[in-house]
Amino acid sequence: MVTYIDAVDAPLKNTGAIRLYSADDFAGMRKACLLTARCLDELASIVKPGVTTSQIDRFVFDFGMEHGALPATLNYRGYKYSVCTSINHVVCHGMPDDKPLRDGDIVNIDVTYVLDGWHGDSSRMYPVGQLKRAAERLLEVTHECLMRGIAAVRPGARTGAIGQAIQTFAEAERCSVVRDFCGHGVGRLFHDTPNILHYGRADEGPELREGMIFTIEPMINLGKPHVKVLADGWTAVTRDRSLSAQYEHAVGVTATGCEIFTLSPAGLDRPGLPPLTR
Ligand code: MF3
Ligand code: CO
Ligand code: CO
Repeated sequence: MVTYIDAVDAPLKNTGAIRLYSADDFAGMRKACLLTARCLDELASIVKPGVTTSQIDRFVFDFGMEHGALPATLNYRGYKYSVCTSINHVVCHGMPDDKPLRDGDIVNIDVTYVLDGWHGDSSRMYPVGQLKRAAERLLEVTHECLMRGIAAVRPGARTGAIGQAIQTFAEAERCSVVRDFCGHGVGRLFHDTPNILHYGRADEGPELREGMIFTIEPMINLGKPHVKVLADGWTAVTRDRSLSAQYEHAVGVTATGCEIFTLSPAGLDRPGLPPLTR
């Protein structure tokens, strides 16, 4: 039975069909995603040894409020924070707490602002102080995985082309791709169809079409790919406690390729790493 309550937000339900967004919709996403990128830019000078992830959570909430945006994660399926902060062997969905960040840590900060009904979902890795070479290499490999996945996006390709590009590079670098979490359709909804797997083959998955909007957010481990979720019901960690990293962009499929909505206006897409020379 469809009640009037269902009918009200029926257009916002995940129906299984992949939504195609208009030029106006792309403009809405551009704004929401720019705000998220600006928040992630600000965090580049905030993250340092001694800072707590609760302080980061507070900053993300306040920055959203100042700009008329709500953090999508707050009260999402019982999640109680404005941001996910995933440190070292935490793969994703780390919850902010009062423990200070320590020299040598790597932390993923994942922000989703909802601005005018559009979801700007993006994350970056932040080095805390001076990193060991292995950690720095993992960040470089993971960012390259994201960009190679994005480079595979064009109308006519399948979602599997993204996964294949990421998996091929990660494994050639002797890293592994987490299977238990994936990218997702995004836009009016936080998590929509299609799933974007970060592994697989180019002939798998639905065909990409102009107007689709989704995230690519590979989680790459220095050790084995296996994860477990802690008793808190959220924190996902590597089973072998190896380091894990993740970068996330929201992209829209265009006639010729894709537009990256969440690029940093300040060129801070990979904080703490040398700027890209491409
Ligand atoms: N931002 C995450 C993503 O990239 C989702 C976090 S959901 C939460 O899809 F509830 F854990 F916050
Ligand atoms: Co996402
Ligand atoms: Co995210």
